[in-house]
Amino acid sequence: MRIEVQRYTERFGSVRLNDVQRVLELDSGRANEIGATGDIAVVKVEEEVTRDYEEKMAIAIMVKDEKLKLFEGVVSGVPHGCLLIVVSNSKRKRVDRFRMEKDALRQYCHFTRRSALIIHQKDPLLAKALAEAGYSELLDDGLLRDGKSEGMIAAMLLAKLAKKGYIGFIDADNYFPGAVLEYVKCYAAGFSLATSPYAMVRILWRYKPKVSEGMYFRRYGRVSEVCNKHMNNLVSTNTGFETDIIKTSNAGEHAMSLRLAEILPYATGYAVEPQELLSIFEGFGGVMPMAQSAAAKHGVEIFQIETRNPHLHEEKGTKHLHEEMLLPGLAAIYHSPLCVDTVRDNIVRELVSTGVLKDNEEPAKPRLYDAPRSIDMSKFQEVMAEKLDSYSALAAD
Ligand code: GDP
Ligand code: CO
Repeated sequence: MRIEVQRYTERFGSVRLNDVQRVLELDSGRANEIGATGDIAVVKVEEEVTRDYEEKMAIAIMVKDEKLKLFEGVVSGVPHGCLLIVVSNSKRKRVDRFRMEKDALRQYCHFTRRSALIIHQKDPLLAKALAEAGYSELLDDGLLRDGKSEGMIAAMLLAKLAKKGYIGFIDADNYFPGAVLEYVKCYAAGFSLATSPYAMVRILWRYKPKVSEGMYFRRYGRVSEVCNKHMNNLVSTNTGFETDIIKTSNAGEHAMSLRLAEILPYATGYAVEPQELLSIFEGFGGVMPMAQSAAAKHGVEIFQIETRNPHLHEEKGTKHLHEEMLLPGLAAIYHSPLCVDTVRDNIVRELVSTGVLKDNEEPAKPRLYDAPRSIDMSKFQEVMAEKLDSYSALAAD
C-alpha cells in the first residue's frame, strides 16, 4: 500500500492528532521496486510489514441481527493472518441467528484453514469471568449488558487472552468485502507509521453513498459532520487554537494497540467511538492530570486514514441515526469535563433543532466504564481460558 505521510500533526498535551492521510495505491508492488526514497510526501508500506501487523492483530466483528450474507462477506474480507473475534448479540429465540452465524463461521474457517473465536454477548461464562475479574459494572441481571461498546470491551479482553498486540473493529453490516480488506491494510499501515506503542487508527471513508434516485456519492454522513464539528470545538476551546483536524469522531472502523485499548475508559453503546477520543483528550491532553505515565511519556498517536473504497452499509433509518447515533455522541462531548459552556450551549441547540431534545432539556450522561486495565486479567483468564477452545469457530459445539 502507498499512502500519504503525516503532513500535518496537531498536539494536544501528549496527544498527537494526525490530519487525514489518503491511500494512493492499494497495492504498491514488490518490495524491491522503487519505494518512496527521496519522496517526502508518500510512504510505501511493504506487504511483509503489513503481514507482520496482521499477525499481531485481532479483528473484532460486532454483530446484532445483521443479514447473514453481509456477515459472511465481511468475514471473507479480513486478511488470513488476523485472528477473527466475533461478539454476537443476535437473537437466539425462535430463529437462532447466533447459531447460523456460528455455523457459517465454522464452515468458513474449515475451508480457509484459519482461526476464529465466536461468543454470544449473553454467554453466562463471559459474565462470570467479567464479574470475577472485577468488571461487574458491565453486567445487568447477571449478564453482559446489550450494546456495541459492551461487546467491544469483551472482544478486547479476548484479544488480550489470545496474546495479540492490536485490535481492529469492523462492522458486520458492510456490503463490500473489498472495503473490509482495505480497512485492515489501513490499520496495519497506520501502526507501521506509529512511533508510540499507544496508537490508534481511525478510518475515514472516501465516500458514503446514498441510494435514492441513482447513487449519490456523499462525502460525509450528517451525523459524523455534526459530531466532528462539536468535537473540534471542544479541542479548540481547550488549546486556544481553532481546528478542524478531527474528521473521524464516529469511526466505527478503527483500531488500537492493546496497550492503548486497556487504559481508556469506554462509554456505553454507540457513544463508544467519540468517547474514545474524549478519553484520550481527558487522559493525555494535559488539561487534566495524566491518566497513565508511560502513555503520557510516549504520547498517544492518532491516525486518520482515508480509504479508496466507498462505505456502503445497511441503512437503519433516521430514528437510529438521530437517537442512537447523534444523541449519544453529542451527549458524550457535552458531559466531558473538558467541555466548556459555549460548546455545551451549541450542542443543546443542535439537538433541539434536530428534534432529539425538547427546549431546556439536557442530554443524559452516557454510562462510562472504567478502563479494562483496572480489572484482574488473571481471574478473567482463569474463568475463560479453560473453555476458550469451545469458542473456537472450529470446535464441534
Ligand atoms: P452504524 O453503522 O454506526 O449506524 O451502526 P450499526 O447499527 O450498523 O452498528 C454497528 C455494528 O455493531 C453492526 O455490525 C451491528 O450489528 C453491531 N451491533 C449493534 N448493537 C450491538 C450489540 O448490542 N452487540 C453487538 N455485539 N453488536 C452490536
Ligand atoms: Co452500520
